[in-house]
Parts: sequence; C-alpha cells; structure tokens
Amino acid sequence: MKNIYLATSNINKVQELTDIINSSGLKINIATAMARVNMPVIEETADTFSGNAKLKAYTFEELTTKNTWVLADDSGLMVDAIQGNPGVYSSRYAKDGASDSENINKLLKNLKDIDGIKRSARFVCILALIGSDGFEITFKGVCKGFIAKKPEGKNGFGYDPIFIPEGHTQTFGVLDKSIKSKISHRARALTKLICWLGSKFNH
Ligand code: IMP
Repeated sequence: MKNIYLATSNINKVQELTDIINSSGLKINIATAMARVNMPVIEETADTFSGNAKLKAYTFEELTTKNTWVLADDSGLMVDAIQGNPGVYSSRYAKDGASDSENINKLLKNLKDIDGIKRSARFVCILALIGSDGFEITFKGVCKGFIAKKPEGKNGFGYDPIFIPEGHTQTFGVLDKSIKSKISHRARALTKLICWLGSKFNH
C-alpha cells in the first residue's frame, strides 16, 4: 500500500479526496499531512492555481523526511462576468480571513445586475503531485455552472450554496454530496490522477 500525504489542513478537502480515492479501489492510502507534521499556514502568493498547488506541496515536502509522496491542491471559482474573479483569491475575496458567507455576499453584490447565462462560472482545481523520485506532475479538473441569485442549501463549503453545476437546477449546497463527488472540479482532477497512479503502481 502506497502512502500519499495530502498537504492541506482543510478537513473538507481531505474528506472529499479520501472518499474518491477509497472508492477507486487503488492500493493507495491518503494520509493527511497533519498526521506527519503540523501543516503551516502557507501564503498563497502565486498568481495561478498551479503555482499555489506546487507551493503547498513543496512546503510540506521540505518539512518531511525524504521518500515521501505529497499531494496538494489549489482551487477556486472563476466567474466569467467579472474577468474570472475571484480566481486565486477565492478564499479571501471579501477580505483576508473572510468567512464563506462574506465571500458569497460580496460576489452576489458584484453580480447583482447580471442575469441568466451571463452568470456562468467554473470551479477549477489543480492537483500537484510531488514524487519521491523528484519529479512533479499536475492534473486539472473543471466544473462548469452558474451563480445562483441567492444562497441555497447547507451541503459542502465555500461557494457551494450559490453554485449550480451545469445540467442541474439546484446548488451544490442542496444537491447530495454523492453528486458533487462525481462531477466536481476536484473529482475530475482526481480521476486523472487516479488513472495516472493506476498505470504506475497497480500492475
Ligand atoms: P484553496 O484551494 O484552499 O486556496 O481554497 C480556495 C477557495 O475556493 C475555498 O476557500 C473556497 O472558497 C473556494 N472553493 C474551492 N473549491 C470549492 C468547492 O468545492 N466548493 C466551494 N468552494 C470552493
């Protein structure tokens, strides 16, 4: 069984990623970085999801003994009507340390005059895997959808209560988590990662 350490202290992400890997049947154990060391708060200073994902992975890798596989993700919401914002600033859109509802309120305010299909958006996730033999590889997942007029539902986290994925009429906040775990940006990036890991380790 191969261990891959997940460089995040976000319990929601650990849960989502672990659920998907476990149901893949791969002989891979996802362990949280917190089980190895205290995960420091990492300043997300890069201006791309990919840059920030690698920053998190390498910061954690430096804190551990070598021969460790590290997986980190960076993700966010890109809204077409406002030039792809909040993007890499998704978690701190309203202000540093903003709550999910503060971020949601700011976004809804900025979109108040935008209607219908012009409220198109997408969640993006980049997974960065740093291998013990010194290479890195990234996988990208995208989930397209629309921004609702008001928050609905309590499932998920972040912008889930205002994100209606394409092909659905309700937000991720309302939809069952089993739906999100199939179609989310994180699930799609993970499917690519699982495929790659399967070809490398399972035969
Ligand atoms: P980070 O990847 O930890 O930097 O988080 C980026 C931010 O994007 C989160 O704090 C959320 O606000 C938002 N975000 C990322 N993925 C999701 C998701 O699956 N649902 C809702 N919001 C998300």
